[in-house]
This record gives sequence, C-alpha cells and structure tokens, in this order.
Amino acid sequence: MSDTGFVLHGAVTWCEDPKSIRSFPDAYVVCVNGICRGVYEELPAEYANLPQEDFWDKLIIPGMTDLHTHAPQYQFRGLHMDLELMDWLEQYAFPEEAAYKRRLYAERAYDLFVEELYCGATTRAVIFATKHVGATLRLMDLLEETGLVTYVGKVNMDRNVPDYYCETTEESLAATKKWLKKAEGRYERTSPILTPRFTPACSRELLAGLAELRKEYRLPVQSHVSESPQEIELVRELEKGISCYADSYDRCGLLGAEPKTVLAHGVWSDETEIALLAERGVFLAHCPQSNWNVRSGIAPVRKFLDAGVPVGLGSDVAGGSTTSIFTAMKDAVQASKMYWRYVCPDEAPLTLPEVFYMATKGGGAFFGNVGSFEPGYEFDAVVLDDSAYPTMRELTPAERLERLLYLSDDRAIVGKYVRGSRLY
Ligand code: GUN
Ligand code: FE
Repeated sequence: MSDTGFVLHGAVTWCEDPKSIRSFPDAYVVCVNGICRGVYEELPAEYANLPQEDFWDKLIIPGMTDLHTHAPQYQFRGLHMDLELMDWLEQYAFPEEAAYKRRLYAERAYDLFVEELYCGATTRAVIFATKHVGATLRLMDLLEETGLVTYVGKVNMDRNVPDYYCETTEESLAATKKWLKKAEGRYERTSPILTPRFTPACSRELLAGLAELRKEYRLPVQSHVSESPQEIELVRELEKGISCYADSYDRCGLLGAEPKTVLAHGVWSDETEIALLAERGVFLAHCPQSNWNVRSGIAPVRKFLDAGVPVGLGSDVAGGSTTSIFTAMKDAVQASKMYWRYVCPDEAPLTLPEVFYMATKGGGAFFGNVGSFEPGYEFDAVVLDDSAYPTMRELTPAERLERLLYLSDDRAIVGKYVRGSRLY
C-alpha cells in the first residue's frame, strides 16, 4: 500500500517537555499514514507533493487528553455545587447514574455528552460510565462513531453505595466479564478500562477479582485516590494495615505501568503515596476544578512532578463543570498559585508550559506516543480560530494559546484530526 499523507500550514505550537513551548508563526505540520513527521518552517522537498490544507494564521496545536471524566454526570454539569464529595455522591451522582438503567435515557443523555466531546479540543479521553453493561456499550458505540480515541469503563461497586445502585461482588465481576466479551473485536478506537469506582465502594474481593481480569485480558485500570478527608478516613477504617490509600489498590495488584493505571485527584496524597505511584508508574489525573467544586482541596501537583509521577489533566465532569481541558489548564495554574500562597511557599506555581504539557503529551502518554508534533507521534491536531479576540499586539502562537486558555475559549475549532483522520 502506498503512503497517504497531508500537510497543514498555519501558526503551530506544541510542547515536547514541561519546560518550554515550541512556537512557530508560519510552519508546516506533516502527517504520513496517521503519524506525525514533524514541524518545518520550510517544507522539505519529499513532502512537496502531499496535499496541503492552508489554515493561514490559524493556530494548530496537538489534540488534548482528558484523563478523567464521568460521562453519565454530564447531565448535571454546572449544578449541585453545594456539598462535599461523599454527600455529593449520595445525593446527586448516584441517583443520576442509576437512571442509565433505562435504555432510552442512556441513549439520549450519552448522545449529548459525546456531541460536546466531539466539538471540543479533546481528542483522547479516559471515561467512567455507570455500572450498566448495556448503557456502557451504547456509550462506546457513540464514541466510536465520532472518531475520537477513548478508554471507557463499566463502573464496579459492591459496598457503601445505595441499594438501588449497588452490585454484589459476584454480580459486579460477572457483569464486567459480560461487558468485556461484548466489547471484544467491536471497536477500533474505543477500548475497555477496568473501573473500580474507589476503595470505599469496592471490597478487597472485588478489587482482587478485577486484578485477575487485568492480568488475564491485559487491561488498564482507572480509579480515584485520596480526594477528600472524609473519604480517606473511611478508607482507613475499612482497610486496616494499608500504608496509604493507594496501597489498597496496590496490595490487590491493580497498580502498574503495563497495563497502565490512572488514578484521579491525589489531593491529600502524602510522601508514601506519591512514592508508591512513582514506583509503580501510575498516572495521576489532576482535576483542579472538581477539587474545589466539591471542596476537596488543592492537589500538591509539584510534589507528584518532582517525584516523577506522570501527570495529565482531567475535567472530572460533573465534579468539574466543563469538559474543556483549556479550562483545566487555566484552573491548574490558578489553583497552584493559591497552594503556593496559602499552603506551601516552597512549591512554585505551575507554569504555562507545564500545564500545556500535561494537557497534551503528559496525559497523551496514557495512549502511547500521543500529544506532540514530534516525528513518530500519532497525528492528533486541533485548529483554532482566535480572530474573535483582536489586539494591536503581534502575538506569538504560544501567547495566542495562553489567551485562549484564560478566555476559556476552545470552541472556535475549524479543524480536528485524530490518528491522521480529519473529523471536521
Ligand atoms: N469518587 C468516587 N466516585 C466519584 C465521582 O463520581 N466523582 C468524584 N469527583 N469523585 C469520586
Ligand atoms: Fe472522578
């Protein structure tokens, strides 16, 4: 088969490391067979015959990864911000998720979520569904149609969840196996991820059962860790003898770099927990907006970075109100400034390159070589039109990106590419 490719021309900006942003006002990004061949100010002769899409002065950036979100909670985004995590789950999240038992409701509600994800700057996402097999498969079907690349998890819970939404250990494992069987061979872009909700809702037997499936099917894992003080207290009561919250997953065999694990939050992670996540190569999904909406706190992100934990950003809808990873970048910087001011003056606030890195290459690493325009990376790109914000200044592409983040505007998308295919 002969090579197929194309060239995009415009103002290009991306991150190869968390220290600096690459930024070219007039450049070419080359894609061949779905893989990036790099960014050039002068187009090399070997690519001169590829079809070119000229975006002129529009901004071309790598696609964003949302490393943690809850599709069924999208229906109450921007609502119910009056409770702490555990009460918030009980009063708002569980009743809403239970509604996905109804096929028609799930179908319509997931359609709205998927449409929004398709329209935004996110090209990859790691997603919680509900406990329901049918609804989770429907969500996967809808996501597959969009061209986005995602991991989706049927949620597992066998304790401390209201009866109307709980499962027994056996039911939970059997339903997971049934779901995996039905999903097998059905998708190109949508993959299952094991999803124990969090330790308060998962017995040791359930976690151990899921760890067996992890090994057998070589599946990645997603969950929550050390999000709120009340939650952590409950974990300490339930699971005696653990060195830290994450140890409740580790001792069952759920943490590792291959297959990968991602844990959301780590707001209250101590040195022991951070060291454990670093040692196991576990990803942290930092979800700053959710952390203040449900009054959990501010995650010590720099401690995770210094320890070598791979960090990406999560919207955590509906703890977070928006699916926008642009907003998550801005929120991460702002939250880190408050952390520096009020909590730890030794920990410098996060910088723009650091959060841009987390949103692209940092979180993208959960999917492999994703989130950069370096040669060899899968070609995910978003083209943005920022002409709605005129200025007398001559801005670099990196400054234009910064403005869009602070204006929370990633909606003016004129092109979106995933694995080298143009979605629109
Ligand atoms: N911990 C367990 N479940 C959830 C959830 O749905 N949202 C958040 N923010 N934290 C959780
Ligand atoms: Fe969450």
